[in-house]
Amino acid sequence: MRNINEHTITEAVLQGMAGCDSPRLKEVMGALVRHLHDFAREVKLTESEWEAGIRFLTATGQKCDDKRQEFILLSDTLGLSTLTVAQNHPVSAQATEATVFGPFYVEGAPQVPQGADISGGAAGEPLFVRATVRGPAGEVVPGATVNVWQADADGLYDVQRTGLDAAQGRAVLRTDAQGQLAFRGVLPVPYPIPTDGPVGDMLRALGRHPWRPAHVHFMIEAPGYQTLITHVFRGGDPYLDSDAVYGVRSSLIGDFRSRADGSHALDFDFVLECS
Ligand SMILES: [Fe+2]
Repeated sequence: MRNINEHTITEAVLQGMAGCDSPRLKEVMGALVRHLHDFAREVKLTESEWEAGIRFLTATGQKCDDKRQEFILLSDTLGLSTLTVAQNHPVSAQATEATVFGPFYVEGAPQVPQGADISGGAAGEPLFVRATVRGPAGEVVPGATVNVWQADADGLYDVQRTGLDAAQGRAVLRTDAQGQLAFRGVLPVPYPIPTDGPVGDMLRALGRHPWRPAHVHFMIEAPGYQTLITHVFRGGDPYLDSDAVYGVRSSLIGDFRSRADGSHALDFDFVLECS
């Protein structure tokens, strides 16, 4: 294999995968190479642009640690997360729509009982959430494991704050015998995704804003059902039609009712797909 040029390089790399014994890996990597090469040919990528791209990806990796996931943020802001979620969870008549996972989920959130205050003292107007988890035939799903995570009144998740020694706005609950769930959190507000890293630099360079409409994250797992990863968005939010990570679905907009005592209430029903 000699004298490779811009016309023969793609086939040479593809042929190099002939010995791969995973058909799926070969398919995915083959397509990635073809599209990457076609991209470089289409824009006639310069060497300095290639170097800038390498620096950008290096900085994206270096920004990641156990609490900061800049690559998920990059995937989210480029629409790759929503594309991947959408093509793996086609909209069904009954089931609650999925949306992006986002970069702020943390494993090992505290398990709390029904009715618990999950705010952990985070600032914000009280929000009382009641939810029911059902299957596609309307059957209630008891014992479902429900991860909830949300930002505080400053638009920050606990993992974005330093010096916190306990979870705030993050918990694991289980649905009761009636498939119900209740907890107290704080009223979510719109927040900008973190802009102090390479993804923020990218958004500024592209003339994009970093805002997400107010929402609460849910991940619901139960035996016999597909895991649902979704949000409930706050109706009336100014960013519902310009979410920086393209996650809004009309069916996921909830009615966060204001109550006379200054607190708020949200009732929402989730419907899982069978696995
Ligand atoms: Fe979020």
